[in-house]
Amino acid sequence: MVVFLVVAVLALVLPGPVREPSSELPALAGSHGIELGVAVAVNPLTHETEYRDVVTDHYTSVTAENTMKWQYVQPERGTFDWSGPDAVVGFAEDHGLSVRGHTLLWHNQLPAWLAQGSFDPDDLREVMREHFGAVMGRYQGRVASWDVVNEPFEDGSPQLRENLWHQTLGEDYVAEALRAAHDADPEAKLYINEFGVEGSGAKADALYELASDLLDQGVPLHGIGFQGHFVHGDVPEDLAENMRRFADLGLDVEISELDVRVPEPASDQDLSAQADEYRHVLESCLAVSRCVGVTVWGVSDAHSWIPEWFPGYTAALPFDDDHAPKPALAGMVEALRRGRRAHGRARGKVTVFGMR
Ligand code: XIL
Repeated sequence: MVVFLVVAVLALVLPGPVREPSSELPALAGSHGIELGVAVAVNPLTHETEYRDVVTDHYTSVTAENTMKWQYVQPERGTFDWSGPDAVVGFAEDHGLSVRGHTLLWHNQLPAWLAQGSFDPDDLREVMREHFGAVMGRYQGRVASWDVVNEPFEDGSPQLRENLWHQTLGEDYVAEALRAAHDADPEAKLYINEFGVEGSGAKADALYELASDLLDQGVPLHGIGFQGHFVHGDVPEDLAENMRRFADLGLDVEISELDVRVPEPASDQDLSAQADEYRHVLESCLAVSRCVGVTVWGVSDAHSWIPEWFPGYTAALPFDDDHAPKPALAGMVEALRRGRRAHGRARGKVTVFGMR
């Protein structure tokens, strides 16, 4: 009777259903000295409890999926909208999460005044410096690393992309951008972020040459983000080897936008094989001493960019449409539980566990 009364009173007093215990992932990631991050969107982050709980229970870091992009931050020249970025950074600070800044220079998601404007090189340099100064300045000491240059190479080729910056400032725009970012926040870690370079290949080689050249010139480049938008069945086996050669240049490396898209319909067998792929990505990061983290590109399949951008593909993330954990999450846990962290800069063959 007493027990019944206590339960009844608690049910009235407690604010909603008792939560599941939070996962072991943050502590496991911390024990290996890596961040486990997730890309977040402002709207669900501010309105959906389940969404927020996935973020705070399972991850140690966040990336703004869109709201720090130029289009949203500086929609008109000199007019800044901080509401989204402030919400993401504020949420992270309230919950002890770190923030990756994404992204400063890109060819996509630019405001019309910039994409369609005409600028001579000095104007464009000024535009770049104003933007970096405002954005990086506002979050100085709060956002520790920035994707300064995003996707500098053409989609399927090792050529430097013909974007606005390249066309107006020439090939040196990458170095100029990194220097401008360093001036805006001398403490920030500055990254080039790219896709299709996760395994070895011509595009990865071109990125390696670019990174080596920049470092030879004394340009402030501190890390490479390997995006990691993979197709199920096609996750490179040599991820660790490829990342390690960049790390050996003295750069930090990370998987910055991980998802593994599955052709529709995704069977149970697909999802369990996808778990091995998630595990492999985590193990690859652990195998490289300078791999500082892995970020997944979205909180759940319901919020993933994949169905819209890659019609016919689905189920790319570790949580399903209802925010329930999928085998992919268990794959990450397993890698972190049994994985050993690489130390020093030892080279050598990397064993790929569990790849089928
Ligand atoms: C994507 C977002 O996920 C989408 O919501 C948006 O419509 C387009 O951009 N590489 C990047 C990310 O660096 O910023 C992109 O994010 C995915 C590809």
